[in-house]
Amino acid sequence: ASAQRPEDVIQRYMQVAAGAPDEDCIICMDQLSNPSGYETPSTDEGGAQNTLPDAVGKFIKCGHTLHMLCMLAMYNNGTKDGSLQCPSCKTIYGEKTGTQPKGKMEIYSIAQSLPGHPDCGTIQIIYSIPPGLQGPEHPNPGQPYSCRGFPRFCFLPDNDKGRKVAWMRRLIFTVGTSSTTGEPDTVVWNGVHHKTEMMSNLSGHGYPDPNYLDNVLSELASQGVTDDCLKPP
Ligand code: APR
Ligand code: ZN
Ligand code: ZN
Repeated sequence: ASAQRPEDVIQRYMQVAAGAPDEDCIICMDQLSNPSGYETPSTDEGGAQNTLPDAVGKFIKCGHTLHMLCMLAMYNNGTKDGSLQCPSCKTIYGEKTGTQPKGKMEIYSIAQSLPGHPDCGTIQIIYSIPPGLQGPEHPNPGQPYSCRGFPRFCFLPDNDKGRKVAWMRRLIFTVGTSSTTGEPDTVVWNGVHHKTEMMSNLSGHGYPDPNYLDNVLSELASQGVTDDCLKPP
């Protein structure tokens, strides 16, 4: 996916708008009727010619408009994973991969029910992440990161909502400072709450919790993960 040209990624998800709306570009804050406020070099690092028009672009699904060259600058500044996110409404185009370090996610079914979910079995997810070096998307690129408490075991009810949550793809962990231990440069949970206890609730991260599935689905939505991108890989 990283081999795609940035201009092609932009043009896959944005069309040239017919005429410039009387609004400001959300990225450069200049009027859409003016050219992009970004100094975009006409060639990229590889020496390839920039083929993107200096025009107002319109996202194909949400319809928000901004300078195409501003969107290109924002894309080039990120992880360049082939996906775009509308800066106005956060709609995601393509597959956002997040900043999760490399590792393994295994999913198992358990017949035993969770407290509060007597009607179905349980999905058990096991995350294994080995230590590694931080990439450009992490707080201290080039520095190592540690991994405490792995493998981590998580539990979800095996119903429609629970299965939806199970396909969260690389948004679960990131590298940062642990708020529990204060340790910097380590792998930490990334704002999507997991249940790490099955039949008890000693940590507060267990069952029963009647609102858990709805809460975690809205945490995912705030990271831009909605039904649309929750297809099994
Ligand atoms: N289970 C699930 N979520 C947790 C847990 C836990 N045991 N402890 C903390 N969280 C939540 C916090 O409520 C917060 O929202 O994860 C988020 C990030 O907290 P950090 O302390 O920064 O995360 P991390 O260092 O990754 O986790 C602390 O969780 O699973 C255990 O073994 C792990 O002991 C470690 C603990
Ligand atoms: Zn702009
Ligand atoms: Zn939008």
